[in-house]
Amino acid sequence: MRRQSAHNQLRVGSPRWGYVKSFIPFVVCIALMSLGLSSYSLLHPVPSPVTTQQLGWQSWDVVDMGAGNGSSSKSSNSSVGSSIRLDVWDPSAAHTTGLTEIRVEHCMFSPHLLAGYCTPKSTPEEDKAKGKWVLVDVDLNKRTGLWYLYVYYRRTRRLDVPLISDLRIATDVSDDGWTKAHGNLHSGLYPKQDKIHLWYKLQTQDGQTEGLQQDIITEIDVLYGDDAPFYGFHRVDGGKIVNAKAGKYESVDLVYRRGAPAPVSAPEPRFHSNGTFKVLQIADLHYSVGEGKCKDTDKDPCVGDKDTEEWLARALDAERPDLVVCSAGHACCLYLTTQVFSGDQLNGQKTSYNARSVLAKFAKPVIDRKIPWAAVFGNHDSEIADDRAEQMRAMQQMPYSLCQSGPADVDGVGNYDIRVHSGDSSRTHIFTLFFLDSHAYQKSLLPWKKLEYDYLKQTQIDWFVNVSTSIKSIERPFRPDGGEDIPTVWAKRRLGRQTLLARPNAMMFFHIPLPEAYLAADLTEDKAYASGQLDLGSQFDKEGASNHNGGFFTEAIKHSFEVDEGGENPVTQVKVLSHGHCHMTDRCRRVDGVWMCFDGGSSFSGYGKADFDRRIRVYLVSQWGEVIETYKRLVGGDVVDRQVLVGEGAASGWGQSPQ
Ligand SMILES: *[C@@H]1O[C@H](CO)[C@@H](O)[C@H](O)[C@H]1NC(C)=O
Ligand SMILES: *[C@@H]1O[C@H](CO)[C@@H](O)[C@H](O)[C@H]1NC(C)=O
Ligand SMILES: *[C@@H]1O[C@H](CO)[C@@H](O)[C@H](O)[C@H]1NC(C)=O
Ligand SMILES: *[C@@H]1O[C@H](CO)[C@@H](O)[C@H](O)[C@H]1NC(C)=O
Repeated sequence: MRRQSAHNQLRVGSPRWGYVKSFIPFVVCIALMSLGLSSYSLLHPVPSPVTTQQLGWQSWDVVDMGAGNGSSSKSSNSSVGSSIRLDVWDPSAAHTTGLTEIRVEHCMFSPHLLAGYCTPKSTPEEDKAKGKWVLVDVDLNKRTGLWYLYVYYRRTRRLDVPLISDLRIATDVSDDGWTKAHGNLHSGLYPKQDKIHLWYKLQTQDGQTEGLQQDIITEIDVLYGDDAPFYGFHRVDGGKIVNAKAGKYESVDLVYRRGAPAPVSAPEPRFHSNGTFKVLQIADLHYSVGEGKCKDTDKDPCVGDKDTEEWLARALDAERPDLVVCSAGHACCLYLTTQVFSGDQLNGQKTSYNARSVLAKFAKPVIDRKIPWAAVFGNHDSEIADDRAEQMRAMQQMPYSLCQSGPADVDGVGNYDIRVHSGDSSRTHIFTLFFLDSHAYQKSLLPWKKLEYDYLKQTQIDWFVNVSTSIKSIERPFRPDGGEDIPTVWAKRRLGRQTLLARPNAMMFFHIPLPEAYLAADLTEDKAYASGQLDLGSQFDKEGASNHNGGFFTEAIKHSFEVDEGGENPVTQVKVLSHGHCHMTDRCRRVDGVWMCFDGGSSFSGYGKADFDRRIRVYLVSQWGEVIETYKRLVGGDVVDRQVLVGEGAASGWGQSPQ
């Protein structure tokens, strides 16, 4: 037995050896595989969390040099720069990061048709060092070229790589330090033109971060037309890419933004010390890229958008309003005419570039005068691209803008309220302005069906009722503090006047009127209304309301009161609704106790009537919000149809009295 067991021990040729031997190829195989794997992974390191942290182009949040200095002032602070996506073109974002490389690419199809087919080639290493390629989503050849032409750039948060500090358009640049961007800016132009190129200058940062943001170029965009570029942007030196050809196309420019300039924010709207506040309404500008075309006017010569801008400037100087409501209107007054943009929808371009070119100019006379402004959308504003949210973001980036996009779960973009405060130290909220998106057209599955205007939705009713009933009651009529001791003021109020605890008066602006705007007017015996009806002004248009009544008047307006237990005839908070939409209608009619007013067209670029002057509507609120008066200012300077709608001096009438 002993021998046998010895015999059985591991020896070459023994059965046990045979058993072990059967594993050898397996072990060798595994050993070789691990060797191969480890040498492969040594040669091709898999990015560990550590390496991405140091080199990854997306991971430089930490290094972002405090976007606070220079970033958008509104609702953003120093952390915002790090949360903006770097690989998506978003000219409304307050980027503080720099660009490292630019290319101009021509594409035979839209780059959106086949994702990424037109994007320049890159390697992961290049992406890490310089950033991924980003498409500037505006076709340079729109209307002018045989194929598509796009700018691509790389953007990075890194500071240890050279960043672009200057741009120029030229056939050739002899100075040192300029790099030619690949591609020809005239590629595809018809008829053919000489090659020109985009050149850029790279600036090494030397670890320096002070003042860096002001120097580097942080965004590139395309501008159509000869108007000023969007706020914060400048035209690239060296001339236009394409010059305008009358009646065919508008000029094309490349524009850039340096640093992240913050637009001046609007001051909080407040009453003057004499208790007044003036709102001016501009309706239906119908601006286009380029100069625009005059419609239905005997003005001669007439340049649509320019002449409109010029007369609005005069009106603003005459009125000096506290707030301009570009309500009622077509991108807040913006409309891209079909002449200039016919067929664009079919191009499959989902960009809002045309909107940005027009948005850049529509509010110019208002901004030049440092007047805060608000806007609502009309039915034409997003006809080209369904891009209200983008347009709203752009408008929020403009100086003196009070625009807000409103809650995301409420239908539409731009349902918001602006609270006007007393100018005294109490800063009491004494007047409310509501803004609503009245949408565009009802969606229909039947293509042959006539387009019907849309209506205000249930979520908007709920939102309005929520917001308006949460407004705090104040002692009315409001009396400012005037710096006196509080007890004295209180004593005076008690002795002097009858006061009432109630919510402040409100007005509301939206583009498309309610169906109720066409109901019979309240009756009156006031001699100012010769017809005996509370109705003043003209109506040359057909009815402009939706064919569907969403119930906004009964469930929202007539459902939100000054005082919750207001007795038999409770007084509504909203006293006046003001609309655009109907360019030849400028009347104010009181229906069931609520005034519904129209502006009438303000623009030579919008349709109208030759013998019906372009006009704006002015609302003068006085006595700390108790009195609302209105009139229209015509292009010639005349002021017509002055009427007190609410408060002391207003006509009383059938239905509920507003006071
Ligand atoms: C950024 O900061 C510098 C120095 O603190 C200051 O001079 C500059 O005006 C600031 N820029 C902006 C846009 O706030
Ligand atoms: C930035 O804004 C957020 C929200 O608005 C705020 O909570 C935060 O404190 C701000 N941070 C700084 C540094 O101001
Ligand atoms: C109230 O004050 C404003 C601003 O000073 C002025 O424009 C307006 O004419 C004044 N209104 C009245 C009624 O005094
Ligand atoms: C209205 O307020 C209620 C209760 O506060 C809330 O549940 C609801 O979501 C609000 N609706 C809207 C549209 O804001």
